[in-house]
Amino acid sequence: MKSIIVHAGGGTDVLELAETPTPEPGAQQVRVQIVASSLNPIDLSARAGRLTAAGLQPPMSRYGLGWDVAGHVDALGPGATRFRAGDPVIGLRDLLFAGGAHADYVVLDESALAPAPTSVPLTDAATLPLNALTADQAIDLTGLESGRTLLVTGASGGVGGFTLELARLRGIRTVALGRPRDADRLSAVAAHVVTSADDLGHAVRRLVPGGVDAVIDAAVLGIVAHQALHSSGTFVALVAPFAPPPIRGTRVVVQEVFADGARLAELTKLVDDGTLTLRVAHTFPLARAREAHELLEKGGVSGRIVLIP
Ligand SMILES: NC(=O)c1ccc[n+]([C@@H]2O[C@H](COP(=O)([O-])OP(=O)(O)OC[C@H]3O[C@@H](n4cnc5c(N)ncnc54)[C@H](OP(=O)(O)O)[C@@H]3O)[C@@H](O)[C@H]2O)c1
Repeated sequence: MKSIIVHAGGGTDVLELAETPTPEPGAQQVRVQIVASSLNPIDLSARAGRLTAAGLQPPMSRYGLGWDVAGHVDALGPGATRFRAGDPVIGLRDLLFAGGAHADYVVLDESALAPAPTSVPLTDAATLPLNALTADQAIDLTGLESGRTLLVTGASGGVGGFTLELARLRGIRTVALGRPRDADRLSAVAAHVVTSADDLGHAVRRLVPGGVDAVIDAAVLGIVAHQALHSSGTFVALVAPFAPPPIRGTRVVVQEVFADGARLAELTKLVDDGTLTLRVAHTFPLARAREAHELLEKGGVSGRIVLIP
């Protein structure tokens, strides 16, 4: 099969479209024939070697990329009973030592998979697993209940967009820090919209006197976003090296998303009932993965880039 692989971290020139062995499913595992897989910022970090440097990925002589899985069940391992061959599924590949999803096939534990949404093509469904599970698990980490306040930085992006929609569903009032181009779209979901990170602490405190109860920092602003948090509030950092220290009695939690097929199935229903919005910016064939990486690296992409094997 064809896979995007990297031998040593670096620029986009380290991306290689190679012939690799088709993986075999083990016990309670499923092989998925990939129809689409998103390109996420984590793939840029993995490609550049930053995950290995940060101790999040073991050193390997060659590794794959791609976390988001959308495709059809192709083969079942011994004891795998939740799906049948041909089922359309989505899932999260969170085992970084296993093969990546920017490939023709991937093998996942069946517990990492969920039935695909029925209302959208698999190309769109590929934008759900990583970003929506991250958003959902990040809100869990805040411990916020209905009526509390949450600052979401990076609200124009993948994780931020789902965070706003899921927080609204839980009755949490959000302040969205997004890009000016998205102000109208964001104000349809968030209680307040801010479009500049300059003096963010004061800007948010003018809207929420005393500061917000929690921050989910999808723009990776660190201490700049922490200034909007009231004393004893919770800060969820998504990129460990940029987590601010806990000060003024705040709690700082570093999130690492994990696969959860059961919860992903619930999120899928929220796509089908219109609660969650999927946004595909561009599609690229695997053979043009370098261009896709360059485009995402430039920033300013509205919606997710999706790779098609
Ligand atoms: N730890 C985990 O489990 C986990 C899981 C998923 C993601 N992540 C990380 O979380 C971060 C967000 O992921 P994502 O997929 O949502 O990324 P994304 O789609 O690129 O979204 C980030 C957004 O932040 C915006 N942004 C950056 N600086 C800003 C600023 N100063 N003011 C306003 N907006 C700003 C970006 O806008 P522009 O594009 O216009 O610059 C972009 O819209 C990434 O660093 C990712 O690696 C961590």
